[in-house]
Amino acid sequence: MLPDAPKHYPVLLNEIISIITPQHGGTFIDCTFGQGGYTKKILSYDHTQVIAIDRDKKSKTQADKLKEKYEGRFIFKNQRFSKLNNLKLKNKYIRGIIFDLGFSYTQIKDETKGLSFRSSGELNMRMGINDFSAKDVINKLDKKELEKIFKFFGEEKESKKISNIIVQKRRNHEIDNKSLLEIIKRVKRKNNTKIHNATKIFQALRIFVNKEISELIHGLIAASKVLKKDGVLIVVTFNSIEDKIVKYFFRTLSEKKSISRYVPKLEQPESLFKLVKKKPIFPSSQELRENLPSRSAKLRYGFKKRNFYNFDTDIFEKFKYLLDVEKIGDKL
Ligand SMILES: C[S@@+](CC[C@H](N)C(=O)[O-])C[C@H]1O[C@@H](n2cnc3c(N)ncnc32)[C@H](O)[C@@H]1O
Repeated sequence: MLPDAPKHYPVLLNEIISIITPQHGGTFIDCTFGQGGYTKKILSYDHTQVIAIDRDKKSKTQADKLKEKYEGRFIFKNQRFSKLNNLKLKNKYIRGIIFDLGFSYTQIKDETKGLSFRSSGELNMRMGINDFSAKDVINKLDKKELEKIFKFFGEEKESKKISNIIVQKRRNHEIDNKSLLEIIKRVKRKNNTKIHNATKIFQALRIFVNKEISELIHGLIAASKVLKKDGVLIVVTFNSIEDKIVKYFFRTLSEKKSISRYVPKLEQPESLFKLVKKKPIFPSSQELRENLPSRSAKLRYGFKKRNFYNFDTDIFEKFKYLLDVEKIGDKL
């Protein structure tokens, strides 16, 4: 989600409900619980259960309320969704798994997280369960490393200039939120685009600090394993990098030959997913009117066709160039 939402607003909620059909009951996994927008709606249908995950421990407050209200039908885990496999769900009948990527309205308003360029808090960007903060990144990595992060995770054209000035300035004082904004403003004086001139750099830092690329790839793979036949995997993305990964994942696994190489060729009649639509679903004009930040949301989904646990994917090779940038963080 992006800033400026009038309140917490679960993006594409009606579309998600019509895809997962919770009126038929069943167990669902909400991989990005947040304020529980999707979970609450699912639990409002009888005979449903939700296993919810969020890396932000502040989500637990909302989760505790639901635990009480829907006793025995709701579990919350404060963990990263890349670790979905640790939940030992192999033998559970999972009908649907949802990812609503990025950060929530509550998080962007949380000054301590420093996710917004409007925040007066310090440079942080940690959503929860992190190894380092944006302050470490900006003040400790070298020029070339910063440039790569801004270029690949922010698609920022002025990456080089901005990195140069950061490294110059930090010789005198530590860079905080305010000084970072000043540097960006100085470089991008002429800003003809509709988005704020710091959006791309802030996006890059958030993706890097939260290791969002490997989180997403591992999350998608783990989800595709635990999902049962006819179960649906839904992913809502908010930027072109996330969407590129999700699109590739669904496209390659909805083609034949996506089942594990350990399954004999003759027994490989089908691909792993069936896509009902090749194109993503966008928010309706009504939703856009009510919740402007939903304008960058794209929903992609696929139904699992077989009960295979293992499958092949070349997604790590395909996005190695992004995973390599993420690895720069190992030295922090
Ligand atoms: C856009 S919000 C979800 C909002 C939610 N659908 C709702 O209606 O309240 C994204 C949430 O996912 C969480 N999140 C992001 N990346 C995560 C990850 N790798 N593992 C677990 N939670 C994650 C964030 O902490 C945030 O609370």
